[in-house]
Amino acid sequence: MTTNQQAYDAARAIIPGGVNSPVRGFGSVGGTPAAMVKAAGPYLTDLEDNTYVDLVGSWGPMLLGHNHPAVVDAVHKAVDAGLSFGTSTPGESQLAELIADIMPVERVRFVSTGTEATMTAIRLARGATGRNLIIKFAGCYHGHSDGLLAAAGSGLATHALPDSAGVPEAITSQTLVLPYNDEEAVKQAFEAYPDQIAGIITESAPANMGVVPPKPGFNRFLREITTANDAVFIMDEVLTGFRATKTGGWGLEHADWAPDLFTFGKVIGGGLPVASVAGTAAVMDQLAPLGPVYQAGTLSGNPIAMAAGYATLTNATDDAYATIAQRSTQLQSMVADALKAEGVNHSIQSAGSLFSIAFGTADHGVTNYEDTQAQEAFRYGLFFHAMLDGGVYLAPSVFEAWFISAAHDDAAMNKIADALPAAAKAAAAATA
Ligand SMILES: Cc1ncc(COP(=O)(O)O)c(C=O)c1O
Repeated sequence: MTTNQQAYDAARAIIPGGVNSPVRGFGSVGGTPAAMVKAAGPYLTDLEDNTYVDLVGSWGPMLLGHNHPAVVDAVHKAVDAGLSFGTSTPGESQLAELIADIMPVERVRFVSTGTEATMTAIRLARGATGRNLIIKFAGCYHGHSDGLLAAAGSGLATHALPDSAGVPEAITSQTLVLPYNDEEAVKQAFEAYPDQIAGIITESAPANMGVVPPKPGFNRFLREITTANDAVFIMDEVLTGFRATKTGGWGLEHADWAPDLFTFGKVIGGGLPVASVAGTAAVMDQLAPLGPVYQAGTLSGNPIAMAAGYATLTNATDDAYATIAQRSTQLQSMVADALKAEGVNHSIQSAGSLFSIAFGTADHGVTNYEDTQAQEAFRYGLFFHAMLDGGVYLAPSVFEAWFISAAHDDAAMNKIADALPAAAKAAAAATA
């Protein structure tokens, strides 16, 4: 039998770091990543035949659990009909209409990754306004396009710096990186750069620095200030969309307003590569071939991916969302109780059914990137490995959300409950 270690060694010999996306590596927790070979419901199985309760859910898409029969069936039927046509297909409009039934959008353009969706949204904001500057918030992740791999410059409202080697300063100088949840910083940016800001992009509820919920009214404020300044407001719902709630992070506010553009991904592909930019006809119809803003994709709207997305969203019933919300609340209590029993200082940050732990933050909570970075992250490695030893697969970084699915049943929850006491003990014993 090939072991996880052998599979990892083979992967490292041919794939940089042994992974095709850095978050899958165990860099921040240590150890050897397991090579998964099977998934069903709430479980993942590795090639040594160890089964884990999965709390990563492929980083978000597996809302209904793995291999949901209706999704698998839809995919099988689509495969039988043909893998890719390179033409329009009815499945594209069906999924687009379904999205527009649930979210306040008039047009949907499909792409294959969240990175493409946000990149396109930003190009649209610039094309629609004739301006260059984009505001993003520190700690929000919007994929890996150059202008969004930007770190705050020195001082508020100064041009951002590259946050990765290979990103030119000339590109990040078109991005302003501001502290999250800070209305004053946004106002100052609009004052400092009148008529130069094309738009604001924000995660509707940030979940890539751990979960950091928006202060009440923060998203509405962003809507108002972009409207007042003729700038485009982009809510990135790639992670939160159809997941934090049925109507994403936007739905948490029961908003009577909408952004100009949303970006979606993950759940709308049900495990296959689908993302989209969606929004008002006025902005979206700027896209080629109707308008002057270019965007394209050989496999965009792929029929198999559309079928998986459509089957996922149509099976994401109100009952399914209620189950996910209830399981999330239950899991948050289980984690909090286990950590409290060992005296581990922490807070649990949540946005809808998404949540994460921030160690050492009980007295002040977490409202922005600086707060998340100041937490006792060193506690997570031992916590993670104790959970893994107990058969629970968490994200290998404390700065990730926990993803629960509609398939997490009592048996899965019991397995998590059994693993938690040792993990909490390990977190308590960890030293910096
Ligand atoms: C909020 C958000 N936007 C964009 C992306 C990029 O999506 P992808 O990894 O599909 O390129 C992610 C990925 O995690 C995300 O969480």
